[in-house]
Amino acid sequence: MKKPLALLILAALVCLLFALPACSGAAKGIDYLVLVNKLNPLPEGWEEALETVTIVNSVGDEVEVEKKAFNAYELLRQDLETNDGIYLELDSARRSVAAQQAIMDDFTQRYGAAYAAKTVARPGYSEHHTGLALDLFFKLKGPDGTFTDVYENEDLVRYPEIWATIHAKLAKYGFILRYLEGAEHLTGYGYEPWHIRYVDDPALAQKIMASGITLEEYLGAVKSVPVTVDLGRSAVYSPKELAEAVVKIKCTFASWEGCELRAIRYAGDGAGGDAGALFLMDFHTPAKLTGEWGYDMDCTDYRIWLVLTEEDGWDIVARGI
Ligand code: DAL
Ligand code: ZN
Repeated sequence: MKKPLALLILAALVCLLFALPACSGAAKGIDYLVLVNKLNPLPEGWEEALETVTIVNSVGDEVEVEKKAFNAYELLRQDLETNDGIYLELDSARRSVAAQQAIMDDFTQRYGAAYAAKTVARPGYSEHHTGLALDLFFKLKGPDGTFTDVYENEDLVRYPEIWATIHAKLAKYGFILRYLEGAEHLTGYGYEPWHIRYVDDPALAQKIMASGITLEEYLGAVKSVPVTVDLGRSAVYSPKELAEAVVKIKCTFASWEGCELRAIRYAGDGAGGDAGALFLMDFHTPAKLTGEWGYDMDCTDYRIWLVLTEEDGWDIVARGI
């Protein structure tokens, strides 16, 4: 074999061995179990691998969705329409970082910065960037056959029975409910009945939905241990308000690195001043010495005071032994 020909064959072999995917243009695909949350931004290169479709919803907005997620959504929509008389619509799915910023600005202006931070993800850290997260709304059919859009979040939460029917069918089409009630300390966000997430595997979706765990827990991104909660009795606060205070405590506790929460008990109205609520916590301190805590200790009856305001909800005003 002549030398130049041998070199050519060698070069072709190197291309085959090392550059085959690039040469053939094979799609890398996306990870349908990707975790995007307050701590995990959209992975680099995501958009290059993403394939989407764009539709126009009943209120005239364009909605862009990852291709397989859209096909699954269509099946879910048809099932609910045919069998349950529920007329589903897509409010929002894939969002660019700029679109997320616009939503953040709008919510900040309309409801204040505290509420916006609780309900809207920081641009770059929204699951909506993936195209796999879908915000739903629905139309109600009146007796005369005309439809009314139920669109705003504050209206959507008034229909728990409709959401229950929708949620019961999600897993069959490879979707999970993403922001569960009472799981704000794990997901970073309050309950959103409209926000669903495609995971491309009905059996897995079924497993996650049936166990009532968050995607964070399923992927092992957060550790959740059972916490005993006693809401006691209050002459001032409703059980719902006290449950919200517990979520606030759990969210705050999530940043106490290495500590393991065991119990939260309501301990009285008006405690710690003129107004407010006192809770007692039991927790285990970190195995290694850190700044604030003695290490590897059981801390019981740790006191935490909260006040409730209309604008900002519960706020922790003091804590200590
Ligand atoms: N509402 C969800 C958390 C988002 O903005 O991505
Ligand atoms: Zn959403």
